[in-house]
Amino acid sequence: MFLEKIRQLREKNIFRDLIDRESPQGTRITLNGREYINFSSNDYLGLATHSYIIDAAGKALDIYGFGAGASRLLAGGSALHRGLEEKLAQFKDTESALVFNSGYAANTGIIPSIADADGDTLLLSDELNHASIIDGCRLSKAKTLVYEHKNVSHITDLLKRENAKKKIIITDTIFSMDGDIAPLDEMAAVCRRLDAILYIDDAHATGVIGNGRGALAHFNIKPEPWIIQMGTFSKALGSLGAFLAGSSDIVQWTINNARSFMYSTALPSCVIAASMAAMEIIEKDTVLREKLWSNRNKVVNSLKDIGYDCMGSETPIVPIKTGTVENTLRISGHLFKHGIFAPAIRPPTVKESRIRINVTAAHTDDDIERLIEALKEINNQ
Ligand SMILES: Cc1ncc(COP(=O)(O)O)c(C=O)c1O
Repeated sequence: MFLEKIRQLREKNIFRDLIDRESPQGTRITLNGREYINFSSNDYLGLATHSYIIDAAGKALDIYGFGAGASRLLAGGSALHRGLEEKLAQFKDTESALVFNSGYAANTGIIPSIADADGDTLLLSDELNHASIIDGCRLSKAKTLVYEHKNVSHITDLLKRENAKKKIIITDTIFSMDGDIAPLDEMAAVCRRLDAILYIDDAHATGVIGNGRGALAHFNIKPEPWIIQMGTFSKALGSLGAFLAGSSDIVQWTINNARSFMYSTALPSCVIAASMAAMEIIEKDTVLREKLWSNRNKVVNSLKDIGYDCMGSETPIVPIKTGTVENTLRISGHLFKHGIFAPAIRPPTVKESRIRINVTAAHTDDDIERLIEALKEINNQ
């Protein structure tokens, strides 16, 4: 039934297939029996295989077993879920917090639940926001306008022009495919002045910027009641799941309204214990973050030296501009042949094709040198 559609995808070079790893997730992965240096993971601090986290998960597994059995509202949650939320609220300096099963579930649950069903909400969304935000906006059925990437004048014009009782600006803080940072200081000032709500997706910022506390801390912005924060445990925290952090009325409303929270089985307690252990690490450990940033700077400086355009990256997400889909596949194929896994990112995920290199604290100097050597070679061909 779908063969013709699949054929069209293949013809356009945008058909994607799954890749099955035979090793743990890390900087060295095994695919089809061969070892590759992995530059595709969002495990920025290398915590996915950290022994403290694995031990914490194992202990919780012994106490609570695996499956949660039901949604939190039907008693699928454990004391660990509540404990993680208390820890998060303290970590984010908010009144309250709520755990979601994934970042995708958080955005598609929270956004519709904070956009009023009576139709008097306006959502303003950055053109490069993550797909889960786009889907959250669609599910909300609220009027959604897309503003130019990080363009605060455009946001201001739209806020002044449009009439709505509630106006919500929604943005990734670190953009997942471009690695640049939203100008939250200016955006928060506009929201304060024009009485709008700011909703931020801190998925890639948590553990990475603001001493690990995320984008508000990075910009020294106080978590006001009109700022709603969402973030994930699935990236720098090396775990799974997501969170909402904000005022207690938003959290209580979301518990009673977000369908992805209400109608989905809770995360297993061992996953919650892993997230808790990861939070303890990012609170205390500064060495890993320093290593992450020094590795990231090494990669970006070397790429620039050999003539690559890093497309405005400001963070450990480092895209390199590759032009056509064909050239992107050629470069990622060359890297793969040289034992390096860095995925080709193509439409429809992004408008402009690229290789997305994610640098982590766990990469060695040798890993980085091999990446740069392979990219230098193909740049000279
Ligand atoms: C900005 C952003 N938000 C949300 C998500 C979804 O998070 P999760 O993978 O936990 O569903 C991602 C992950 O790719 C992301 O990059």
